[in-house]
Amino acid sequence: MAFIQWSKDLDIGINVIDTQHRRIVDYINELDVVNKGGDITDINRVLDELVDYTVTHFAFEEDLQESAGYPFIKAHRRVHEVFTKRVLDFQNRAKAGDNIAPELLSMLKVWLINHIKGDDVDYAEVVKKSLGNQETAEKSGWLGSKLKRFFG
Ligand SMILES: [Fe+2]
Repeated sequence: MAFIQWSKDLDIGINVIDTQHRRIVDYINELDVVNKGGDITDINRVLDELVDYTVTHFAFEEDLQESAGYPFIKAHRRVHEVFTKRVLDFQNRAKAGDNIAPELLSMLKVWLINHIKGDDVDYAEVVKKSLGNQETAEKSGWLGSKLKRFFG
């Protein structure tokens, strides 16, 4: 049983974002697996991947919000910043040899689900409107090049 089970109510209705959120959940689930394995090198590796991917996702999300003219982007960015700082603290403790994975996992689960269902749902409408037809947006120029710019 996965640590976080994806459920429909975590979809915010923007394909590119939902895909990224699922990927973050995958990383968290992987962190749970390596935590059970107890190998500190594995834990640090997955933690680094999770942090890398999540920070890129945040930047992408903020960029979409900016393009769409989402009015609460500042507050949203701040929420991302505070969270990133918290996770970096965990990462530093982990690098110093602390076993932070269990504590981090429960924090991540609560935070991510609340963030998606609250803060992310809040911007969904405005961004969806600005994307227009999502399939066209993904295939045509700018969304594709945005994705490339952030995720390579
Ligand atoms: Fe967000």
